[in-house]
Amino acid sequence: MRIDILTLFPEMFENVLGQSILKIAQEKALVRYNLFNIREYAENRRCVDDRPYGGGPGMVMKPEPVFNTIEAIERQTDTRPRKILLTPQGHQFSQAIARELANEPYLMLICGHYEGFDERIRTGMDILELSIGDYVLSGGELPAMVVVDTVVRLIPGVLGDHDSTTKESFSDVLLEYPQYTRPAEYRGMKVPEVLRSGNHQKIKEWQRDHSMKRTLERRPDLLHKI
Ligand code: ADE
Repeated sequence: MRIDILTLFPEMFENVLGQSILKIAQEKALVRYNLFNIREYAENRRCVDDRPYGGGPGMVMKPEPVFNTIEAIERQTDTRPRKILLTPQGHQFSQAIARELANEPYLMLICGHYEGFDERIRTGMDILELSIGDYVLSGGELPAMVVVDTVVRLIPGVLGDHDSTTKESFSDVLLEYPQYTRPAEYRGMKVPEVLRSGNHQKIKEWQRDHSMKRTLERRPDLLHKI
């Protein structure tokens, strides 16, 4: 998968993409990240935003630097990316959307900053608008990192144990069951006996029951999906 990220702050991504699973995925050549600084494509580099027509607070990101960046990238390749705009007004990002995006060969994530985008960035191209939740961040960079991390770990071969994403299939809907590792007892708190029994059938049942129980207690809204 190729992932292009268009941002005014490319340095924000360097650490995140250079660590852990996201780094390993690139080392395994399963993904390639390209960072593009939108400012470099602006006709006037000092001016990527402007005051909103009609007045109001804050600055609005101009359309021209964003379109210029996309067109410069598209001139270099015949394949067309799935374009994604990070915005609090977008569709709620979810594991289901992540699974769908994990099948794409080429994603392009566009991060806004300032108070918002010129509307023509939305209407002037075919673009999927995504929000990572009902809160407003100061830009699309952190949301883009959330999307990249969620999608890349689903690409087959990225996680050493491919089973660890397929096994999550019921936690697509339900919350994860409680997990334990050694020691069997820590400060008087014991690992449930069944998990140490070696009885795989019983262990599976326990995990599913506890997944259900936890979902019922904490996120009953998720249960209507199953
Ligand atoms: N930009 C600012 N807030 C955001 C959010 N919640 N999701 C996606 N992009 C954003």
